[in-house]
Amino acid sequence: MAAIRNSDGAPRNLRAEFVETARAHLIQPWPVAGEIGAEARSGIIAGDGIYVTDIEGRRLIDGPAGMWCTNVGHGCEPIARTLYDQAMALSYSSPWYTVSEPSARLSKRLAAHTPGDLDHVFYTTGGSSAVETALRFMQFANNVQGRPNKKKIVSRQGGYHGSTYLSASLNGRPRDHDWMDSAGDMVIKLSCPNPFRRPAGMSVEAFCAMLVDEFRTTIETHGADHIGAFVAEPIMASGGVIVPPGGYLAGMRELCRDNDILFIADEVVTAFGRLGHVFASQEVFGIEPDIITFAKGVTSGYFPLGGAMISAALLEKLRQSNHSDAMFAHGLTYSSHPIGCAVAETNLDLLEGGLLAHARDTAPYFQAQLKTLEDLPLVGEVRGLGLMACVECVADRDSNNPLALDLEVGKRIDAHCQQLGLLVRPLIHMCVMSPPLTVTRAQIDDLVSILRRGITLTQDELVREGLWKG
Ligand SMILES: Cc1ncc(COP(=O)(O)O)c(C=O)c1O
Repeated sequence: MAAIRNSDGAPRNLRAEFVETARAHLIQPWPVAGEIGAEARSGIIAGDGIYVTDIEGRRLIDGPAGMWCTNVGHGCEPIARTLYDQAMALSYSSPWYTVSEPSARLSKRLAAHTPGDLDHVFYTTGGSSAVETALRFMQFANNVQGRPNKKKIVSRQGGYHGSTYLSASLNGRPRDHDWMDSAGDMVIKLSCPNPFRRPAGMSVEAFCAMLVDEFRTTIETHGADHIGAFVAEPIMASGGVIVPPGGYLAGMRELCRDNDILFIADEVVTAFGRLGHVFASQEVFGIEPDIITFAKGVTSGYFPLGGAMISAALLEKLRQSNHSDAMFAHGLTYSSHPIGCAVAETNLDLLEGGLLAHARDTAPYFQAQLKTLEDLPLVGEVRGLGLMACVECVADRDSNNPLALDLEVGKRIDAHCQQLGLLVRPLIHMCVMSPPLTVTRAQIDDLVSILRRGITLTQDELVREGLWKG
């Protein structure tokens, strides 16, 4: 095929052009005002397995699996076939008036994996809408049960639950609310359960007791009759892969049960294999939530789908209430989308057919290899569980201070790693690694050695520029 040429005769780089087109017309998520609607982010043109190819033709390990979502990896043929087959069989049917076979079949399969009686699902279009659904359901349920004041929502500093108004109001990461409005009066924030940042000299056990006590005091202060739900990621993902102290989630669960507060486990990241199980709440943490929200890995990112698994007992209470005509006025055009549900079924086939076992088998090696990076002076802690981990950089290991130049560090490591063949997802001064679950030991070796080189180059650069003493 003859090359398309510019007026000066030079071959036109069509692939680079799309990045410029994006700069001219696309508003990217989480932009800063100074660049909004005018950004050229890295151009990605292809994906296969755990790799993506960037605009320069470099093959990069997809360190964050997209956004913790491409669990079965890129270019998965069975899923591609399902997308085509389902689109040809039935591309859409309205969940307002009809039910499609894939959505019904999937609901039964999901129910088989949930703890306790969480055997009903409300499908959404992603994670934010799943959390939003769970919260609106809590409000509706309390209205129907005649306790309209029991609606405050408890979340944690460091958490992330989405970008719709109410779900975003729960977020607690630095900068989340600096320039954005939120339903702050509806939300109470507890401390972040990050053992790495516990008060100096305190044991992890005492830290855990302190956190549970904080929730107990909060319930006493606001009154259990004013608190409707506690929402928690079993492992805080975007907050930096924060694995809470052992016993923390069980303690919080018990307080919820004692005070009739719904425990909503936001498993948008931790479900569908990231921790080696379809859902992690019970299998990994031994807790039985009232609601589990999910998205991302349910379709491995091949189709936007999410949902909320809801306790049968809770639904029964509503059916038995005095307000059988009260309407849960909530639904999305793409709830129960037949293509999304069919993709989720094929995705589940792959997970059940060996990928969950592979993830469980590979996880200890993944964690151990990443842990070796702790010998680098810039690295304060490597932590994680399953196939999710975070490398946190610190300015001073003795005090574990975050780097004053925190933003710089993530960006620099990312830039070096991209040159070397790894896509990093820098979260300020933290590098989060959550590759597709298909990752092999040899690929983990590559990932870790590139990350080591990227961090080493960043260290050298910071010292050379006089920004860090090393
Ligand atoms: C734990 C958690 N909940 C909710 C969301 C929001 O999901 P979505 O971006 O699909 O709306 C995310 C996204 O990263 C998440 O990590």
